Amino acid sequence: MDNSQSILEKLKSYKQEHIINFLEKIDIVKRKNLIEQLEKIDFNQLQELYKNTQKEIKIKENKIESIQYLDKEKLTKNQLDNFNFLGESIIINGQYAVVTMAGGQGTRLGHTGPKGTFKLDVYGKGKYLFEILAENLKEANNKYNVIIPWYIMTSEENNEETKQFLEKNNYFGYDKNNVMLFKQGELPLLDTKGKLLIGKDFKIKEASDGNGGVFASLRITGMLADMKERGIKWVFIGGVDNAILKMVDTTLLGMAIDKNVQIASKSVVKANPQEKVGVFCKMNGHPKVIEYSELPEKMAEEVDENGELKLGESHIMCNLFTIDAIEKISKEPLIYHSAFKKNSYIDENGKEIIPNEPNSYKFEAFIFDSFELFDDIAILRGKREDDFAPVKNREGVDSPKTAKELYEKYWEKQKVQVLK
Ligand code: UTP
Repeated sequence: MDNSQSILEKLKSYKQEHIINFLEKIDIVKRKNLIEQLEKIDFNQLQELYKNTQKEIKIKENKIESIQYLDKEKLTKNQLDNFNFLGESIIINGQYAVVTMAGGQGTRLGHTGPKGTFKLDVYGKGKYLFEILAENLKEANNKYNVIIPWYIMTSEENNEETKQFLEKNNYFGYDKNNVMLFKQGELPLLDTKGKLLIGKDFKIKEASDGNGGVFASLRITGMLADMKERGIKWVFIGGVDNAILKMVDTTLLGMAIDKNVQIASKSVVKANPQEKVGVFCKMNGHPKVIEYSELPEKMAEEVDENGELKLGESHIMCNLFTIDAIEKISKEPLIYHSAFKKNSYIDENGKEIIPNEPNSYKFEAFIFDSFELFDDIAILRGKREDDFAPVKNREGVDSPKTAKELYEKYWEKQKVQVLK
């Protein structure tokens, strides 16, 4: 089996012998492809990731404090003018770029196809999520007389479909030469015993490595170099699924410049202690977001002397980074979180198994785990009705229905303000 000997040894030493058995049963072409894939896998990292799934999260050992923020509503006119002036200068000078992370699976929404191709039922005709984002950027381009380079992160799974969709819709009128698609990385899935799974296509099952993969992917795919060549200094990185996401917010940008920090983030007040959002804090003196699933109930409910939640600033995936910050983060290993999910696979007899219950771990890095690599961050508290209309679930909270209402309400308000 030529140069595959070292792979076989690796599989043995990492207790993945079932793959060796499998390799012996498949034809030569499939075997060659599978070996090529195995050569790229970091088994040591996988072993560590699996070990971590067996450990409890020990958040209590850390020192957690509330984080400082500025409330946009309460800024003085001077502060507001100063921030906007600083922010506008960056945009007008062509030093601003936007990244949309669209590599997620959107499992909760259950839409077939990339999430950005989901049509939100607004104003009768409806608008695709990608269309809403394109409109937002075009509006900024008109206002500042620039064309903001727009980078879209896709996944191995949805890249082709995303590309075709955007082509078919003529990039919703965005200048095609300034829209760059790039693919994010993947990590193998592991079953409850730490074993790799094999898919119907006779390949090891892998999945996107989470939105935290954006930094390394930007560098590896050459997008970071492209940004540098264009003279970009600040980069907005946001999701694809917030119908009123402000990707070009001069106040947020100016605040970061004024504060002389490398990262800025928009927050909104957590609706209630149980809301399923990550919250900002300072952990051991560094900025951090704690995921709702990892925040102990008692801590989530604690209030300060004003009756406000101590950990009440929600992270809404609305972040700004300097180009240097992206470069730095892209070279650091981020923490991976594991999610226990249902994934089909083929067993040793080649039979496809479609589980009814979660059976395997998916590993994801989160964008906000990068914050702790820095001493400080600028947080601007926005308003839920102006900044946050997420499309996450099929029904109920954060669903197309709630996002439609928020979207239409927001735009009605803008019209009234223009008329005033
Ligand atoms: P979520 O974490 O809400 O995931 O992504 P999701 O894929 O949209 O939905 P579920 O959890 O499967 O239901 C927040 C943002 O991060 C992007 C998503 O596309 C979304 O814009 N994302 C997420 C990626 O780009 N890559 C990933 O691996 C994960």
